[in-house]
Amino acid sequence: MNRYQNLIDKAIEVRNKAYAPYSKFKVGAAVLCQDGSVFTGCNVENASFGLTCCAERIAIFNAVAAGQKNFTAVAIALESQQLCSPCGACRQVMAEFGVDTDLDVIICNLENGSIDITKLSDLLPQAFGSICLK
Ligand code: THU
Repeated sequence: MNRYQNLIDKAIEVRNKAYAPYSKFKVGAAVLCQDGSVFTGCNVENASFGLTCCAERIAIFNAVAAGQKNFTAVAIALESQQLCSPCGACRQVMAEFGVDTDLDVIICNLENGSIDITKLSDLLPQAFGSICLK
């Protein structure tokens, strides 16, 4: 069993709550905090398309609103015929909270059951961060 199976299961579960009437592309995300707690999110679309928010950011914002700031992994559940990974905006938001741990990003593609694990630093090398502001 994959060491992230519990996290993946939570991402799959919350994906059922996705509000995606326009794209029909449902995404679920679950973020693992350093203390072992897990927070979830799904994508939420809007008739004014630009207001849509991705599942990953909603999961992270949920965790932050609960007082968490250090994450070790994010699992994402989606269904696609293509290889998919998080959008640039979500990568940047992940980088804000994975600074000293370098997040594992786990993609579970329900189309074929594949599970891919990548380091955030591979998805977003040379990320802009708070250190740049010093
Ligand atoms: N989406 C996510 O939730 N996460 C991503 O990493 C990429 C895209 C959502 C946004 C929108 O509701 C739908 O997928 C299609 O772009």
